[in-house]
Amino acid sequence: QSPRILVFAGSARETSFNKRLAKLMASRIDALGGQATFIDLRDYPMPLYDGDLEDGEGLPENARRLKQLFIEHQGLAIASPEYNGFITPLLKNTIDWVSRPDGDIGGLVPYENKIAAISGASPGGLGGLRALPLVRQLLSNVGVTVLPNQLAIGGASKAFDDQGQLADEGQAKTLDAICQRLIDTLARQQG
Ligand code: FNR
Repeated sequence: QSPRILVFAGSARETSFNKRLAKLMASRIDALGGQATFIDLRDYPMPLYDGDLEDGEGLPENARRLKQLFIEHQGLAIASPEYNGFITPLLKNTIDWVSRPDGDIGGLVPYENKIAAISGASPGGLGGLRALPLVRQLLSNVGVTVLPNQLAIGGASKAFDDQGQLADEGQAKTLDAICQRLIDTLARQQG
């Protein structure tokens, strides 16, 4: 059975470059033999993490839904924007809420045995390259294994063609290599 991979961007913005990149990763994963589920974090609004909220009402319904979705997938593919050289509050807040226990489901269970591929896009020249080590560190801290390959796409406003494909052949090849490695690594893990 082909590995299931949950794909999302760390941006809620309608015309987000990172959503475009995440959608492309999802379609390449499907084309290369994986089974991608693209989700838009805009569809999972959650309050900023607050321990009093958690103590009072427990996890927000959307955090519980996401926790379940993570558990149902073996892999993650994430496209992260860079805000002031850092990851976005949306991405951090999402990872944080999902890392909280919910009834019988332990906090880090959604991240157990998970393997992730990461990428980023920015209209700037470096493509959000400074955020990627932080995405890597965050995921690693919750127990996710992050593949060494990554792709940061600079000049993002010109990087995608009308079909949502990467105009640059080298970037397209790198993205495929990352997606293929994720699929192959997950398939080996499944035995
Ligand atoms: C940015 N942006 C940005 N870009 C970058 O390459 N390095 C940076 O450090 C920052 N810092 C930053 C801070 C804040 C608060 C915002 C709102 C934006 C620009 C950012 O890359 C741009 O808005 C992207 O379009 C955001 O990603 P999405 O939403 O297109 O996926």
